[in-house]
Amino acid sequence: MISYPSLPSLIWMPRTSLRATLWRMIGRVAIVTGANCGLGFEVTKRLCAQGHDVILACRNEDRGMAAVERICTEQEDALASYMHLDLADMSSIHNFVDNFHETGKPLDLLVNNAGVFHTTPGPRRLTKDNFEDTMGINHLGHFLLTHLLLGDLISSAKENGESTIVNVTSALHDSKLKVRRHETQPIDLDNFFLEKPGTYNGYQAYKNSKLANVLFTYELAERLKKTGVIVNCVCPGFVPETSLGRDAGVVSRFFLNYVLYYFLRYKNIVKTVGEGADAIMDCATRTENKGETGKFFKNRKEEKSSEESMDETLRKKVWDMSVLYCHLQDRALPPPALTLPKKTRVRISVTPSPEDDDSEGDQPKSFNPGKLKA
Ligand SMILES: NC(=O)c1ccc[n+]([C@@H]2O[C@H](COP(=O)([O-])OP(=O)(O)OC[C@H]3O[C@@H](n4cnc5c(N)ncnc54)[C@H](OP(=O)(O)O)[C@@H]3O)[C@@H](O)[C@H]2O)c1
Repeated sequence: MISYPSLPSLIWMPRTSLRATLWRMIGRVAIVTGANCGLGFEVTKRLCAQGHDVILACRNEDRGMAAVERICTEQEDALASYMHLDLADMSSIHNFVDNFHETGKPLDLLVNNAGVFHTTPGPRRLTKDNFEDTMGINHLGHFLLTHLLLGDLISSAKENGESTIVNVTSALHDSKLKVRRHETQPIDLDNFFLEKPGTYNGYQAYKNSKLANVLFTYELAERLKKTGVIVNCVCPGFVPETSLGRDAGVVSRFFLNYVLYYFLRYKNIVKTVGEGADAIMDCATRTENKGETGKFFKNRKEEKSSEESMDETLRKKVWDMSVLYCHLQDRALPPPALTLPKKTRVRISVTPSPEDDDSEGDQPKSFNPGKLKA
């Protein structure tokens, strides 16, 4: 919702807040990563049609600018602009955020959509910072980007009551699902980048990275509770039309898109790009999920994510590792403080144990948490 400030408040406002307020009078500001094609492009078009000011965060200037042009040709008054972002390069992520801050725009919506999936056998590819690139781009790049933009999202939520982060994940984060007979295993944190000999394949790397997207969503939502920033993740469904499986080879892509496609469509197994984008839009803008945070959406409704993704210890470990890899030790969000609901009275009784005796007189007794009963 757009709220208009009074004239006196505009006059006395600091310059940076003034610029942000003026932007807000135009509409909500959104960043979509990987917006030049596929699902990201369709989502961007829909956001522009709703009057949002959308920044297309893409790694290739020609493709990014071409996407902006296509949108502006279709929608004359679209507020779309390109900004360079290569998620495979941490310095590019920092530059992107600096450039974004220079625009003075607020940030209401971040759609972490960009992704890679290497479906043909081949050697591990690395990002500029030497991470296996599927994990590096799909998870770590977005982890860093989100952290660097958290201040903006929190300020927007303070001003507007809410701001939103959507992480685009996949049902394939679940190792129980097989794709074309490719089995995947639960994540091994001692082999986070699949560097151990014989363990790398594109399917395992993709599965691990999409699991990390879900774990990140749950942990971030927990840490952002009470800030008004909503964090959810969504699987858009199987959309073979996009360029995600671009390295699968011409023959298999032709077979999938023109032969198998109609059968899969008939069986309701595949989605169109439009349907996939609608699923992401639900999470980004749907009013019924107002306030709902830390959820996994699939088939346009909340669903249970994999058993592995519900493991809280794993979630915290992946968070801590990501903080270290992204050099965010100084600025990462702290874990939520343990707070008890105000009206709950908890009686704690300490049961004496045989080794306790009063021989120490006035000395304080040692504290044994094992003896607490709530
Ligand atoms: N398609 C599906 O069946 C499906 C299913 C479940 C989940 N998803 C998820 O949906 C999201 C979008 O995928 P899609 O199907 O639309 O695939 P897509 O058409 O290949 O789009 C991926 C986008 O990510 C961008 N990208 C890749 N590496 C990047 C980097 N280093 N820095 C910045 N941008 C980068 C690509 O840019 P370039 O064009 O320059 O390469 C492209 O714009 C992904 O997260 C994917 O995992 C897709």
